[in-house]
Amino acid sequence: MTFHALVPAAGFGARMGQELPKQYLPLAGQPMIFHALSTLCACPQIETVFVVLSPEDTQFKSYDLSRYGDKLQPLYCGGATRAESVTNGLVAAELESDDWVLVHDAARPCLTQAHLFKLIEELRNDDIGGLLAVPLADTLKRADGEGRVLRTESREQLWQAQTPQMFRAGLLVRALQQCKDVTDDASAIEALGLHPKLVACDTTNFKVTYPQDLLLAELLLNQAGK
Ligand code: C5P
Repeated sequence: MTFHALVPAAGFGARMGQELPKQYLPLAGQPMIFHALSTLCACPQIETVFVVLSPEDTQFKSYDLSRYGDKLQPLYCGGATRAESVTNGLVAAELESDDWVLVHDAARPCLTQAHLFKLIEELRNDDIGGLLAVPLADTLKRADGEGRVLRTESREQLWQAQTPQMFRAGLLVRALQQCKDVTDDASAIEALGLHPKLVACDTTNFKVTYPQDLLLAELLLNQAGK
């Protein structure tokens, strides 16, 4: 069984309101993207870590990447959306159809070896694959057009999808080519009528989206000694 990781990192992170793309914002002493890349590269089961960058990206190769050796493979083929970046990366990586690929967002820097171990162990013999996720904790409100509560939605059996999302490379590329309008990989697999497995994770693997998320990520990374 072969496992690879693929990190889409060709976005700009408009919601952060910064000029520097989100993945390069300083976080606990290094650009955000290197936290996830270091964790993925240190995972012994993972053979290669592909990082999908924008063709115009000049930032990535300005950093010292020597500590990662050949395990880290940059691919300058990012697209207009996350789904397009993942598809382009999977095609460029030329993986075997049966290889497992763990797609992980550059914007989830607090991923740990324990998260990776759990995901791989729970899915390695699965027919479809799946994703890390957390059961929803907050009460959900649906808004009307004026910012007032229209109604409260049930949160029963609702989960928040995280990454990595782990699927066979052949299945994932086929799913994403057929279903381009998705915000995660599992949605494309679901559109084929398949049911990815939810692997229970915790909220420390959150996505840095807004400026205040940087502070929380920094606290967690410092506590983990990174
Ligand atoms: O913007 P958001 O946080 O949803 O992006 C999730 C991940 O997808 C980020 O790592 C981002 O760099 C990546 N992405 C990409 N290509 C795009 C848009 C987003 O690789 N065109």
